[in-house]
Amino acid sequence: MKGIVLAGGSGTRLQPLTWGTSKQLLPVYDKPLVYYPISVLMLAGIRDILVISTPTSLPALRNLLGDGSRLGLDFSYRVQPEPRGIADAFLVGADFIDDEPTALILGDNVFHGAGFPRLLRESIAALDGCTLFGYPVSDPERYGIGETDEQGNLVSIEEKPLRPRGNNAITGLYFYDSDVVEIARTLTPSERGELEITDVNKVYLKQGRAHLTRLGRGYTWIDAGTHDSLLAASQYVQVIEQRQGVRVACLEEIAVRMGYISRDSCAELGERMQGSGYGRYLLEIAQSL
Ligand code: TTP
Repeated sequence: MKGIVLAGGSGTRLQPLTWGTSKQLLPVYDKPLVYYPISVLMLAGIRDILVISTPTSLPALRNLLGDGSRLGLDFSYRVQPEPRGIADAFLVGADFIDDEPTALILGDNVFHGAGFPRLLRESIAALDGCTLFGYPVSDPERYGIGETDEQGNLVSIEEKPLRPRGNNAITGLYFYDSDVVEIARTLTPSERGELEITDVNKVYLKQGRAHLTRLGRGYTWIDAGTHDSLLAASQYVQVIEQRQGVRVACLEEIAVRMGYISRDSCAELGERMQGSGYGRYLLEIAQSL
């Protein structure tokens, strides 16, 4: 399966933070926001990853992430000239996807929870059409809401419903089979001028091939697109990391634990950053393995 991190957008809700830099490069406690969605793809076992961003932000993301080899990954990059919508990722990334199943994750989404890697792998193994991930929210009228039957099949998707049928918000992580590019090609822009991911999902829904995996109460999902949620994400990560002594979304740690890089490579990366607690953590991880 291939992976796409959609890391463009206008970031209007984070202005003026986003005037000089990309939202995805802003810090979430000890690392850039984009590390978090990349960690999800890595934990799902995906190593071939496309990063899509704006013409101005893509060079900075490439500078940060490189070709992926230091993490045992393969990063590719494509420009999205205008924020034409989330589903536009499949048009921008069509040649990269190359008729394979694809996981799309939004560059500002933070997921964390025990058992997540297993859940991701099981969802990929069982993929039939598309799999979305639902998260219970207290304010469903602000989200896309997925309603499921008893088997977990999606029966409806409603954007920002006035009278919500349930409280399962559809998060920014989506697994699709190889039909997704063809489906995206049939879409027309919505009233706000974007190719809507909901329209892709509704095609699968019509075919009876849309599934929703619920992330239960043991999970955290934060869309870090506002000042408050960006701060909340930092605070959450700080609390977990300081209390537990483990790092969330530490890409080098995931790479070494998944067997993508050697213990020595992990130690080298740690040495390069040993001026920071992050680097010293990598050294400790390498020593402990
Ligand atoms: P949004 O948060 O919906 O949009 P945005 O990032 O432009 O922010 P704002 O609403 O504050 O103006 O986007 C979700 C994620 O998807 C985010 O990481 C940016 C990315 N994105 C793109 O890369 N291209 C797009 O065309 C859109 C709509 C979003």
